[in-house]
Amino acid sequence: KKRIIVLVSGNGSNLQAIINACQNNLINGKIVAVISNKPDVYSLMRAKQANIPSHVINHKEFATREAFDHQLQLQIEQYQPDLIVLAGYMRILTPHFVQHYSGKMLNIHPSLLPKYPGLNTHRRAMEAGDKEHGTTVHFVTDELDGGPIILQAKVPIFDNDEEQDIVERVLAQEHQIYPLVIKWFCDDRLTMINGRAYLDQTMIPKSGYA
Ligand code: GAR
Repeated sequence: KKRIIVLVSGNGSNLQAIINACQNNLINGKIVAVISNKPDVYSLMRAKQANIPSHVINHKEFATREAFDHQLQLQIEQYQPDLIVLAGYMRILTPHFVQHYSGKMLNIHPSLLPKYPGLNTHRRAMEAGDKEHGTTVHFVTDELDGGPIILQAKVPIFDNDEEQDIVERVLAQEHQIYPLVIKWFCDDRLTMINGRAYLDQTMIPKSGYA
C-alpha cells in the first residue's frame, strides 16, 4: 500500500472522502498521518475518529515561510510517504518544499483551472456571470495552482444560486474525483514528467480529463 500524508487547514470533507475510500479499499493506500497548519480544525477530529495520527504545525509560530516549511518537511519525513495530498490546505508552499515532493504531491482547487487560481473562486465565477464552474485536481508545481491538470469536474451555476449552493455543488464533485485520482496514483498509473501529467504512459491533455 502507498503511504499517504494529507495536509489540511479546515473542515476536511475531502479528507473524509479519502479516508472512506481507503477504508473501503477503493484506494490501494493508507493515510499514515494528517498534518494541519491550524489548531482546532475539524479535520483533526476526523483523523482521530479514523485512528490516524495527526499533527498541528501552527504557521503562526514560525518567523518565515521557509522555517515553517522546513518543520513541515521534517515531520513528513518521519513517515516516509509516497504521496502528499493537499486537501483544503490553505498555505502557499515554498519552491524548495514543492521541488522536494515534485511528482508526488496533488492538490484540489475549486475552479476550472486555469480560470481563477487563488482565493474566492466561487464568488469570482458568480460575479463574472459564468454559467459553469467546477474543480480541478492537479500535480503541485511552484506556480500557484498552475501545475499540470489531471482531472476536472464541472458544475452548473444557476441564476438564483447563493454562493453556498455552489460551494456544496463543487464539494460533492470533489469527493468523487479526488479519491479517483489518488487511486490512480496509488496504482502507479499517474506520473509527472517534464511538467506534464501522464495516465498509463499517455499524456493527459493540458486541460486535463473531464
Ligand atoms: C475545497 O473546496 C477545496 O477545493 C478548497 O477548499 C475546500 C476545502 O474543503 N481548496 C482550496 O481552496 C485550496 N486553495 P474541505 O476542507 O471540506 O475538504
